[in-house]
Amino acid sequence: QACWAVVPAAGVGKRMQADRPKQYLVLADKTVIEHTLNRLIQSAAFQAIAVAISSEDPYWPELAIASHPQVITAPGGKERADSVLSALKALQGKADEQDWVLVHDAARPCLTSADIHLLINSLTNDAVGGILALSSHDTLKHVEGNTISASVDRKHIWRALTPQMFRYGMLRDALQQTEGNPAITDEASALELLGYQPKIVEGRPDNLKITRPEDLALAQFYMEQQDD
Ligand code: C5P
Repeated sequence: QACWAVVPAAGVGKRMQADRPKQYLVLADKTVIEHTLNRLIQSAAFQAIAVAISSEDPYWPELAIASHPQVITAPGGKERADSVLSALKALQGKADEQDWVLVHDAARPCLTSADIHLLINSLTNDAVGGILALSSHDTLKHVEGNTISASVDRKHIWRALTPQMFRYGMLRDALQQTEGNPAITDEASALELLGYQPKIVEGRPDNLKITRPEDLALAQFYMEQQDD
């Protein structure tokens, strides 16, 4: 089966308190999104990479990678799921229904080739697909207001990362059927809502999502470690 990548990159990143969307902040020598796309390209795992970009985004057309032969630009949507669906539509006629799609956040620039191949190799014979995830080392509490109502058994709790890997046709249909549902915050939750049971594959803690200002320094540190 062929593999395709989808990168939602149409968010505004309000939690960053920056003058531009977080995917355009500079990390070492390049913007966050250039790091992310370079890693997907360098993995040599994908036929093409569909990137969802806001129509009001002045930064994207300035980047050389926007005209890379493997990169396809699609219009962004209101929510992350809308952006992913738009990027999937840009692959229509290219991707087969049973092909794999790996959806990866633009804001996760430290993804390793090893993790991409681990995910693909682990799930390639699966009927549904699944996601990279991290176990939780902290004790977890269920809280109401500021009061702990229960401790949650952390053995059953995993943190969802990206890439998230699903069949092209199944993912498109799931996102279409769950459109507008606020409970859908990643691709797996759309499939779960329809009764599918995606798998998890243990990822690495350095695959962080740039969310808060201090995450940039952390990402730079991880990248320097990875270069060793
Ligand atoms: O805001 P958050 O960190 O959850 O965004 C995750 C990813 O989804 C980011 O790469 C962001 O650019 C993307 N996104 C999008 N379209 C939206 C909202 C977020 O492509 N409407």
